[in-house]
Amino acid sequence: MKNKFVNSLCIFVSTIIGFSSVIAQQSHVLTVKANHPTATIPPTLWGIFFEDINLAADGGLYAELVKNRSFEFTNPLMGWKEIKQQGSSILVINRSTTNPSNPRFARVSVQSEQPYGIVNEGFRGMGIKKDTGYVFSILARLKEGTIGTIHVQLINAKGDHIGEESIVISGYEWKKYSVHFTAKATEPKARLKLMFDGKAVYDVDMISLFPHDTWKHRAGGLRADLVQMLADLKPGFIRFPGGCIVEGRDLANRYQWKKTVGPVEERPLLMNRWNTEFAVRSTPDYFQSFGLGFYEYFLLAEDIGAAPLPILNCGMACQFNSAEVANSDDLDEYIQDALDLIEFANGPANTKWGKLRSEMGHPLPFNLTMMGVGNENWGPQYIERLKIFTKAIKDKYPKIKLVNSSGTDPNGERYDYLNGELRKMNVDFIDEHYYKSPDWFLQNAKRYDTFSRNSSKVFAGEYAAHSKLSNEAVAKNNWESALAEAAFMTGLERNADVVQMASYAPLFAHVDGWQWAPDLIWFDNLHSYATPNYYVQQLFSINKGSIVVPIQLKNEVVAGTDSLYATACVDKQSNELILKIVNTASRQQDYTILMEGVSRLSQLARVTVLSSDKLAAVNSFRSPMLIAPRDMQVNVNDKKMTLPLLPLSLTVVRVKMN
Ligand code: AHR
Repeated sequence: MKNKFVNSLCIFVSTIIGFSSVIAQQSHVLTVKANHPTATIPPTLWGIFFEDINLAADGGLYAELVKNRSFEFTNPLMGWKEIKQQGSSILVINRSTTNPSNPRFARVSVQSEQPYGIVNEGFRGMGIKKDTGYVFSILARLKEGTIGTIHVQLINAKGDHIGEESIVISGYEWKKYSVHFTAKATEPKARLKLMFDGKAVYDVDMISLFPHDTWKHRAGGLRADLVQMLADLKPGFIRFPGGCIVEGRDLANRYQWKKTVGPVEERPLLMNRWNTEFAVRSTPDYFQSFGLGFYEYFLLAEDIGAAPLPILNCGMACQFNSAEVANSDDLDEYIQDALDLIEFANGPANTKWGKLRSEMGHPLPFNLTMMGVGNENWGPQYIERLKIFTKAIKDKYPKIKLVNSSGTDPNGERYDYLNGELRKMNVDFIDEHYYKSPDWFLQNAKRYDTFSRNSSKVFAGEYAAHSKLSNEAVAKNNWESALAEAAFMTGLERNADVVQMASYAPLFAHVDGWQWAPDLIWFDNLHSYATPNYYVQQLFSINKGSIVVPIQLKNEVVAGTDSLYATACVDKQSNELILKIVNTASRQQDYTILMEGVSRLSQLARVTVLSSDKLAAVNSFRSPMLIAPRDMQVNVNDKKMTLPLLPLSLTVVRVKMN
């Protein structure tokens, strides 16, 4: 189907080329100067930002299917339902003095001949796939009785069994039991039913169900289809874990990396700050199990070839929520966390934190080179704390680059103050965030053209165009927003000597559990799809190149004239010239591209087009490829080619320089 489409597109393009001599007379000209490098493109330019928002971690990337597996939610039986039997019961026991990181477990007393059961609803159900293997595990001991059996059953929406096994529990000591089975059917909203047999009292904790087919088949790992989507972006870096999640509503609820490493059963649960953030999208069952913690994060970064960029709390809670700050005399703990994270990532196995990394399975360092201090923090209180952090980190690790906040907006009083102060400090990176209208993105395509080349570098750490064409969450990722981002990104690439990293936000959203839209990747329990915004990110990332060269329209940068936005670069490795041209007009524009400063070019250029004639168009589970890249070829004649720039399109051209 795709080939048929590409063929017809080629015929269509050839027809246009047939008319090229006529068109060339009237068409406009874009001139590329391939031997005038203006900036070096860092390998980190296009990256990703992962935050546990919209069920991105628990219920998303982290492949655990059981919700509230350890009975630690505020309501300890949330997500669980009893199948009652007279005389049988469940009790939640708290042993916080002896086990503060995993205080609760459940005591199930079965006193009748009839089995008693509990059912877990999963994260908006459990996505189960036919013929796929699953591993069920549980920490258990008998409190009374000599032997007990737990029947483990997967049930579909109708209540039919689609997979089952049993486990015999014996002994009075805590022990991990596990059993493997294969699902007989596919079900997006399955549930896990546990039936306890025999007259006995069972203590149970860490009730878990994972598919075998996790990313790289790692036990307790990540959802493979979602990681693959990240890998396909070929990101230069991965920012983690936030976002507001770093700050917490108050300091007690801030993200603390040390509580996310080591055995999963010892990682204390925390309420997710997005649980209560938006009254209209309240998500009372949203918590952080930290099964996807800092070790898994570093591993993920390594797997997909992205440089890790962890963000740490700088002693300030979210200023929108509580505005609580740690007294500057009390910052030591926060600073120590930052220093220890560097040791965890890079330290030899004979250091305290390097040893833990090694014991967790990664003796070699993760090669951490940069770190963020604070998320969207602002005001003099931020600068005061940042100076203390910077000194401590740079004294011990002078090579680590630091990323610093410029607040919540790319302009205004807060931004001006922070931008000024940070540049006075000559910081490594200033993190700018913009969630703005598509129009803002178009108007700001030249934003960085006038930034200082010899001062701090910019990290466009969070951005997304927020379209108003629809109020429906998934429809916010429409072509209008993606096209505006593409236009803006030409400005980022053109200024790659200033903007050295950029990441869209947020990354993931579960269709049944989101709090924030638009988002780059939408998923449900079984599937996921890439938005048009994803394809824009991908096209820029996989066509990154190594040096920027000028592309001009009437001797000017291409940033709005004739509704066009463009950038050009040379990929030194493949020796190709790469052009990215965005046509925001709703008419086709035919342009002659003149490529100067090259001795010879191949006669065919590879062209990839992302387009839709409707600004409101979106991808969906039903039509995931409605707006997706289409490939074709265009003739190059004597360093010249005629490009039909489709209405509302992003066109990427790669042409070999011989
Ligand atoms: O991306 C969603 C949120 O937007 C981030 O957590 C925060 O940094 C920003 O306000």
